[in-house]
Amino acid sequence: MNRGLRRLVSVADFRQLAKRRLPKAVFEFVDGGAEDEVTLNANLEAFNRRHIIPRILTDVSAPDVSTSFLGTPLATPLVICPMGSCALVRPGADFAIASAAAARGIPYTLSTMSTAGMEDMARRSDGPLWFQLYVLKDRDFSESLIARAAALGYAALVVTVDLQAGGKREKDLRNGISIPLRLTARTLLDGALHPRWAYRQLSGGLPRFENVRGYLNDTGAGLTLAARVGQNLDAAFDWDGLKRIRDLWKGHLIVKGMMHADDAIAVAEMGADALWLSNHGGRQLDGAQASLDALETIADRLDGRLPIVLDSGVRRGRDILKARALGATVTAVGRAALFGAVAGQAGVSRVLDILLDELTLAMKLSGQPRLSDVKETLLAPKES
Ligand SMILES: Cc1cc2nc3c(=O)[nH]c(=O)nc-3n(C[C@H](O)[C@H](O)[C@H](O)COP(=O)(O)O)c2cc1C
Repeated sequence: MNRGLRRLVSVADFRQLAKRRLPKAVFEFVDGGAEDEVTLNANLEAFNRRHIIPRILTDVSAPDVSTSFLGTPLATPLVICPMGSCALVRPGADFAIASAAAARGIPYTLSTMSTAGMEDMARRSDGPLWFQLYVLKDRDFSESLIARAAALGYAALVVTVDLQAGGKREKDLRNGISIPLRLTARTLLDGALHPRWAYRQLSGGLPRFENVRGYLNDTGAGLTLAARVGQNLDAAFDWDGLKRIRDLWKGHLIVKGMMHADDAIAVAEMGADALWLSNHGGRQLDGAQASLDALETIADRLDGRLPIVLDSGVRRGRDILKARALGATVTAVGRAALFGAVAGQAGVSRVLDILLDELTLAMKLSGQPRLSDVKETLLAPKES
């Protein structure tokens, strides 16, 4: 690892690196949330509001963070969130994240809106791969994506259900960010101020939505990324549609983006294999509850019927410990990994190792030898 990376010791340090190295429009696209960013901030605050009551005098010489998910043993409790548009940060970012994850046995979720093609990713990655589906208005095309994922051997299908429309991300509206990048006076100025980023973008090939090339209608010019994606999604997609996907997809089915316990129960009853509790990192419905706050209720109601993936707001290893205490089987990271990708695969590796080291340290200092044994009693009751 180079000396520069060694000096970055937290996810927050990588966020600062991203802020320095990326044009404002790109940084805000990754970092920002919808409207007033109430939910974005609530996600972070929810983790910090829950306090650990450490235990003492247990043997924590070698904390065990391994777990198992859908019958597969995992060396760590981490998963990588699906993220579209990653190559805006740095060409090859999708592969950089996937490779760093694969080296640690961490499942990587490729987005429908990824800037790496699903075929390319399947060929290049030797780690566990999941495919995330946005159900597009053209159902035949959506079903062709499912068939491609099955043929390529993706181990799980993650159907995202919280993007019935693109969230109102006001920073993106003001910055006018789009894919393909439009060469406006502002993009050119931003590029001139960040020559390393601009050089990489020009030499690496401008980012494209590889899986939906030729499909997304191009009347989207002038729309933000969220609006353009949202415009192409099927807002009429409902429980019947999900059941149809359940019939089509023979592998593990994970439903991403529910927050209500009744929906979690319904997802379990319709035959999904896992649920992914998420408010999209505060990028969709502003004012939505923090996902950690929803976790407790959902885990209680589900009572172990399905494994739970939790995301939104994970920035510290101790957050993973808290998510586990409240019932998450595994924890997924989005922005943290993408901030790392600003420094390529080595940057993502560093971020993942920081999170895992912090998790191990938090386990040692709170007297927890095995992550899978961590219980809710590790946390002080929620302050109202
Ligand atoms: C740049 C970016 C792009 C995203 N694209 C997608 C996507 O294509 N599909 C999806 O289901 N979620 C997408 N998400 C949401 C993430 O999967 C995840 O729910 C969220 O980032 C978790 O919050 P965190 O960033 O605080 O970890 C995206 C998030 C970011 C930051």
